[in-house]
Amino acid sequence: MLPLGTQRVNEKGHLEIGGCDTVELAEKFGTPLYVLDERAVRERCREYRGALETRYPRKVKVYYAGKAFLTLAMCRLAAQEGLGLDVTSAGELHTALQADFPPEDIALHGNFKSEEEMRLGIESRVGRIVVDSRIELEQLAALAAEYRRTVPVLLRLNPGIKAGGHEFIETGHIDSKFGLSISTGQALQTVQRALELPHLDLRGVHCHIGSQILATEPFGRTAEVVMEFLAEIRRETEAVLTELNLGGGLGIRYTPADDPPSVEEYAEVIVTRLLRAAERHNFPLPTLMVEPGRSIVGEAGITLYTIGVIKEVPGVRTYVAVDGGMSDNPRPALYKARYEVFLANRAAEEPTQVVTVSGKHCETDTLFEEVVLAPPQVGDLLAVQSTGAYHYSMASNYNRFCRPAVVLVREGQAEVIVERETWEDLLAHDALPTWLRD
Ligand code: LLP
Repeated sequence: MLPLGTQRVNEKGHLEIGGCDTVELAEKFGTPLYVLDERAVRERCREYRGALETRYPRKVKVYYAGKAFLTLAMCRLAAQEGLGLDVTSAGELHTALQADFPPEDIALHGNFKSEEEMRLGIESRVGRIVVDSRIELEQLAALAAEYRRTVPVLLRLNPGIKAGGHEFIETGHIDSKFGLSISTGQALQTVQRALELPHLDLRGVHCHIGSQILATEPFGRTAEVVMEFLAEIRRETEAVLTELNLGGGLGIRYTPADDPPSVEEYAEVIVTRLLRAAERHNFPLPTLMVEPGRSIVGEAGITLYTIGVIKEVPGVRTYVAVDGGMSDNPRPALYKARYEVFLANRAAEEPTQVVTVSGKHCETDTLFEEVVLAPPQVGDLLAVQSTGAYHYSMASNYNRFCRPAVVLVREGQAEVIVERETWEDLLAHDALPTWLRD
C-alpha cells in the first residue's frame, strides 16, 4: 500500500488515518464512507503557500479549487490556511458564503455564468470574476453598471497548450470551450474591449491547462506564454496588467505507477520560467495566483466500502462487489481512472489474489479492474486511496442510492462533515401532480 498523509497500519493490522482506526470508523459511520485527513489537507495548503511565497518576490495567492471537494468544513479549512477559493457555480459560491468565507478572497469562474450567478458574484462582492467569453464580458459590464459598481475581473485565456491528463479534462488546447484563444487574436480583442468598459476593472489574465498533469514542463511553458501575452497587451494597448492566474492541474498519486512532481518542483518551474520571461520582456512582476484542487485534497481522502459478494467466474475472473459504485465514484467509468486498493481490516496481509471490484449498480460498473488484494472475504473493508478530490463532489443518486457521509479525522477525532443521505432526502424534492395523488 501507499501510505499517504497520516495513514499507517496499527497493531491490529487495521488501516489508521488521522489517528482513527478505519474499522471503527466503518462501524460507527457505516459504509460506503468518505474519510478526509485534516492534517494532510492542511499540509498541502502550507506546502503550496510555502513553495511559492519563498520563491516569488511579489505577492502570491493560492486559491483552492472548490470543484474538487467543497463543503462548509472545507471552506473553513481553506480560509484558516490563508487560501482563497475558486468557485464555479452559484451553488459553490453559496456554500462559501454560508461558511463565511471572505468574499474578497473568492474568484468566480465558469464558461457560462447565468445572470443569477453574475448577480450573486457582484452582490456578494467576490474578489474576482473570471470572464470566459466576449458575451459574458458585455453582460457583466451591463450588470456592473446597473449596480453602479466596478467589478474586478480576470480574463480567461486559452494558451493553446496540450497537457497530459485524460482528454476529457484537458482544457488549454485550441479546441476547448474554455477561455479566449491567444493565437486567434480573440483574447487580445477581448482585452481591448474590457479596457473600454468603465464598470470593469481588468486586473489580469487567467488560464488553466488541464488536470492530473504529471509533468512540470506544460506549466513552465504556460507561464512563459501568458507572460508573453501580458507583454503583448502592453505593446498593443499600453495597459500593464498586474495579475496572473495559472490555474490548477498538478497531478497526484492514485497508484504507485503515478509519479507526480512535488509542489516544490512545480513551484520552482513556474516561478523560474515566469521570472525569466518577465525579465526578457522587461515586464513588472504581476501578482501570481494558482488554483490547485486535486493536489490539495486528493491524497487526503480515502473511501471505505464493505465487501458483500464474491463471485468466481471460473477461468475468467473473480468479481468482488462492494456496497457503493459509480454513484460515489464515477471516475473509472468517465476517465478509466485507476486506484490503489487494499483491505483496511487486514492491511498488513500480503496481497496475493487478483480480483475485479465492481459496484452494486444496475450496470457493469467496474470500479477497480484486476487489482491485487489479500484473499478477500465477505464483510472485509476495502480502502481506496486518493479519493479526496472529485469523488464526493461528483457523486450522484443513481439507482436512488443515498450519497455516503464524509467524515473529517484528526488526531484520533472523527466527525461528520457531510451527513449520509437518507430515504427522506431522496424523496425531499419529489412531487406528485394533482392527477396522480389518489
Ligand atoms: N481552475 C480551473 C479553472 C479549473 O477548471 C480546475 C479544474 C481547477 C482550477 C483545478 O484543477 P485541479 O488542480 O484539481 O486539477 N472531474 C475531473 C477533473 C476536472 C477538473 C476541472 N477543472 C476528474 O475527476 O479528474
